[in-house]
Amino acid sequence: MSQALWQTEPGADPDKAIMEFLAGDDIVDDRFLLPFDIQATRAHVRGLQRIGILGEQECEQLCGLLDELLADFQSGKFALDDRFEDGHSAIEFYLTERAGPVGEKVHTGRSRNDQVLVATRLFLKDALGRLADETRNIALACLARAEKEGDTPMPGYTHLQRAVPSCVGTWMGGFAESFADSLDFARAVSGLIDNNPLGTAAGYGVNLPLDREGVTAELGFARLQLSPLSTQNSRGKFEIMALQAASHALSDVRRLAWDLSLFTSSEFGFVSLPDRYITGSSIMPNKRNPDVVELLRARLAVVDGAIHEIQSVLSLPSGYHRDLQFTKAPMIRGMRSALQALAIVPDLVRAMTFNAERMRAAITPEMFTTDDAIAAAAEGKPFRSAYRDVKGGAAEAQPRNPEDSLVARVSAGASGDLRLAELRRRLA
Ligand code: ARG
Repeated sequence: MSQALWQTEPGADPDKAIMEFLAGDDIVDDRFLLPFDIQATRAHVRGLQRIGILGEQECEQLCGLLDELLADFQSGKFALDDRFEDGHSAIEFYLTERAGPVGEKVHTGRSRNDQVLVATRLFLKDALGRLADETRNIALACLARAEKEGDTPMPGYTHLQRAVPSCVGTWMGGFAESFADSLDFARAVSGLIDNNPLGTAAGYGVNLPLDREGVTAELGFARLQLSPLSTQNSRGKFEIMALQAASHALSDVRRLAWDLSLFTSSEFGFVSLPDRYITGSSIMPNKRNPDVVELLRARLAVVDGAIHEIQSVLSLPSGYHRDLQFTKAPMIRGMRSALQALAIVPDLVRAMTFNAERMRAAITPEMFTTDDAIAAAAEGKPFRSAYRDVKGGAAEAQPRNPEDSLVARVSAGASGDLRLAELRRRLA
């Protein structure tokens, strides 16, 4: 490892094991943050120029080198490896190696504490934007199935027992609305964390008139994060909020995956998945396993585990503590694995096929008794007595047409009306 930023005596021989322990997995985690760190460093450099700390040429030189660093990093020419303590040191090393004393000016008025905060904040904003896009895509895919095949009858279950006649529109439209809620939640969190922590330094500000507003505008933040101390204390808290947004979307995915693992089983046989979603067994030649669906169901555990991991780190007094380094890995792991899982779902929803015969056959005569009791009650019979009357006769009930029940429920003004047009407007 090259000399750490805070080591001033060239002759000092730091303990290798301790230095590695301090760095932890930073160089690996910081690979996901480096482009954002470079972006924020560029804005910081421009801000320093505006207040006279850097000359115009110095500023241009550093910005040019930052562009080169980004390109070198993305092409693999510059590796964030164990030569460095972390990504922040790597940036300063790169600039200083090429621009000497000008490079040594870059850290004026900032601390790695606000540097990691701003890189993290930009990472989270980007991840939340993508979370919103993925969640909306899933909602739209579910809505399209509901609009196209909404009338296809399907049994409705409670307690996993057959309950009342229902339809694909209710099942898929239900998911469309749930994902729309998760979308709104992701957008709300995105708005909440959209403030700029850079310029708060180590958590107590600095004795320089930093152009915080200008840096905020250049980085595209909606506003400034004001108090230096609360800014520092938001580290981890904002990460948890973002992960919670991912968790809501993934709990909808978990429920959908659960339904699919039941509905694709031969016991139900309501839904078939194309071959690309199916795996075989290494021992049982007959098996067609829905492994993709099961891994989608399990993905929430990664995100909820990450939330718990960060919460455990946050038992801290005010201000920066090195413990906070341990919030990075779960944040990155949680957001990346959520996004990877969500990206699979729209195609899955579009590609699954319904077995209308099997679903119709599972709507058995006794499932109409609720309709019958309510119809009698609508004609004036007290509901409880109508309920008793139909209950005894259920076994003798004749096969019935589920469409009749559905038409009554989705007709204008009835509470089963699917209101898909309203949902589409909400997702516009
Ligand atoms: N890797 C550190 C972290 O993630 C960077 C900040 C180090 N700051 C310090 N004062 N030691 O928290």
